[in-house]
Amino acid sequence: MTVLSTPEAPESDLVLSLRGIDKNFGAVQALTAIDLDIYSGEVVALVGDNGAGKSTLIKILAGVHPQDGGTISHDGKTVTINNPADSNNLGIATVHQDLALCDNLDVVANLYLGHELGRGTINEVEMEKRSWGLLRQLSARIPSVRIPVASLSGGQRQTVAIARSLIGEPRIVILDEPTAALGVAQTAEVLNLIERLRDRGLAVVLISHNMADVQAVADRIVVLRLGRNNGEFRVADVSYEDIITAITGASDNAVTRRAQARVDSADAAAAAGAPTATALPKEERP
Ligand SMILES: Nc1ncnc2c1ncn2[C@@H]1O[C@H](COP(=O)(O)OP(=O)(O)O)[C@@H](O)[C@H]1O
Ligand SMILES: [Mg+2]
Repeated sequence: MTVLSTPEAPESDLVLSLRGIDKNFGAVQALTAIDLDIYSGEVVALVGDNGAGKSTLIKILAGVHPQDGGTISHDGKTVTINNPADSNNLGIATVHQDLALCDNLDVVANLYLGHELGRGTINEVEMEKRSWGLLRQLSARIPSVRIPVASLSGGQRQTVAIARSLIGEPRIVILDEPTAALGVAQTAEVLNLIERLRDRGLAVVLISHNMADVQAVADRIVVLRLGRNNGEFRVADVSYEDIITAITGASDNAVTRRAQARVDSADAAAAAGAPTATALPKEERP
């Protein structure tokens, strides 16, 4: 395993560039002229309402659906992604929302499913050693690699699925709603893991509905709305309300009014000297 062997993050550089991507399913125009740039050493969040086209876009990158129009460049060269093998060969690993783990198999078997190191006890030992090595590099808290993944928590299962995606030594890891089913502590662990991937120089594409997660861990946010690009922001420069406005396409609706009310009450509390509820700073996450 050499995938995580370079601890220092390289300069951000463009790995994958999508231009003018179109996709329709019969009469449904799912994507229209989508642009997306993906850089090493960066977490880019892909956000948007249900039906905005997020899953369709990542399925094009994963080789599940071919695009109908537009171009994909990889390290500056135009490429086509016709199937999952093409996607893997370009160094793209996708962790789908359903994780696709085998509940009855242990952690080692799940990590090496389809990548088994030959047969026999020697290789079992080697796979177990490498599994521990990989999980250690990710600072993952897994009690044992010889228990069925069914007995792991949701956060641990997500960690195993992410660790498995690293076996093929990808440059780009796409995570579809990795925290959707998780509690607070498990979410924090997965967010820490995402930062570790980024710090090791991988490009991370994070699909999420949770703006707190996005603001905590992403560097850049790309908003899709009704299958089109509808805004791109540096996380450092953008407010929660601006993101919501881009997602919903309106500056005055029930969602943005709630967001504004939240900000107003936090401001009022701050003015009154009360401590405000803010996300845990990165260093203080468990
Ligand atoms: N396999 C499919 N067949 C037909 N329509 C689809 C298919 N997949 C997605 N769509 C449609 O494409 C649009 C975008 O969907 P999707 O990419 O799943 O959005 P998101 O992941 O942002 O919720 C929606 O209108 C959805 O109904
Ligand atoms: Mg989706």
